[in-house]
Amino acid sequence: MHTTFSTTAHTSQELMELEDRFNAHNYHPIPVVIERGSGVYVWDVEGKRYYDFLSAYSAMNQGHCHPRIVNAMIEQAQKLTLTSRAFYNNMLGVYAEFITQFFGYDRVLPMNTGVEGGETAIKLARKWAYEVKGVPANSAKVIFAKGNFWGRTLAAISSSSDPSSYTNFGPYMPGYELVDYNDLAALEAALQDPNVAAFMVEPIQGEAGVVVPDADYLPRAYEMCRAKNVLFIADEVQTGIARTGRMLCCDHFGFKPDILVLGKALSGGVMPVSAVLTSDEVMLTVKPGQHGSTFGGNPLACAVAMEALKVVEDERLADNAEAMGQVFRQRMRALQAQSNGLITDVRGMGLLNAIEINESAESETAWNLCMQFAENGLLAKPTHGNIIRFAPPLVITREQLDACCDIIERVVLAMVEA
Ligand SMILES: Cc1ncc(COP(=O)(O)O)c(C=O)c1O
Repeated sequence: MHTTFSTTAHTSQELMELEDRFNAHNYHPIPVVIERGSGVYVWDVEGKRYYDFLSAYSAMNQGHCHPRIVNAMIEQAQKLTLTSRAFYNNMLGVYAEFITQFFGYDRVLPMNTGVEGGETAIKLARKWAYEVKGVPANSAKVIFAKGNFWGRTLAAISSSSDPSSYTNFGPYMPGYELVDYNDLAALEAALQDPNVAAFMVEPIQGEAGVVVPDADYLPRAYEMCRAKNVLFIADEVQTGIARTGRMLCCDHFGFKPDILVLGKALSGGVMPVSAVLTSDEVMLTVKPGQHGSTFGGNPLACAVAMEALKVVEDERLADNAEAMGQVFRQRMRALQAQSNGLITDVRGMGLLNAIEINESAESETAWNLCMQFAENGLLAKPTHGNIIRFAPPLVITREQLDACCDIIERVVLAMVEA
């Protein structure tokens, strides 16, 4: 078949048309075509600069194209990228020691995407349930919170309470139970079943609209799981790596999950790298051939992830997220007070925040606000119609944050006055 590859320069409009014509329609992006990124900024094809307030769903915590991470990637890419796990490579052991010490776990299982991390955690929990806890064969159960989001595979959508995620993709994975998020009584009831292997939860529900639970929810849920010999799996794919003002969101609450899932910013957004961390007791239930991935633990990912974590530590990004988050929420709460009811809620931790917009299903106010933010040089996108998440790279400075709050304020007040 004859194919013409179009390599000439394109306008944003042409590029959007190309994507629309040849790509699957599984996303509905804000109409901005990004060509370049550096730190908190991205530039479109026409050279317009924007503040990135989504950070690739918190994958760019260290900022776009962080020079140290990119250099680590280039240096490793020139030496060795992938060996397959049929052989040892000289990076994996070093990385495994580094990341387990960094987060305080016995062992790591490296994967690529966040959803693979979630799948891995659930497989580990099931295996542990049968071989350590003593759950009868094929009866293990995993509890999830409604509103969860951990990806788009069949196992992930099987735990979803969002019809757009699961409708017409059945049949679904058995052995799941859903309880209300932030509801300890519901969790307690579900934990009565002796076959429960694990409770998997996001410390803050990111995709559901930055839903922050009550201060006692997570630590008490953890204690309740412990009391029932149930593994607490923290999905910190979005909340982890300094996003909420601590290295892990669970650090705010003073407990260490039994299984920790990380992804996204584990690579600073330069390639898919995820990790599952846990104890010897859980991890060593999996034997050779029982789990794996061609790319999991590849030398390139190991080099990138180590540098990405060192950057977070060296640049004290958790502290910056905490401090800038306080400023941001203060500014947004002041704006809420002036918004004549347009902003109904401001919430978040660190630099994972959201504002909720008062709108009917058809009015598209939040979408229109985001279009205006883009017009004014700030990129954000609504989730669930009326919630706008604000999650800039954690390298943002006070001056940049103030400039961004000015943009948001200007746009919102213009909408209020319109
Ligand atoms: C909390 C959480 N877990 C898991 C995932 C899935 O990560 P990935 O898209 O890399 O598979 C996401 C993605 O947004 C997420 O927010």
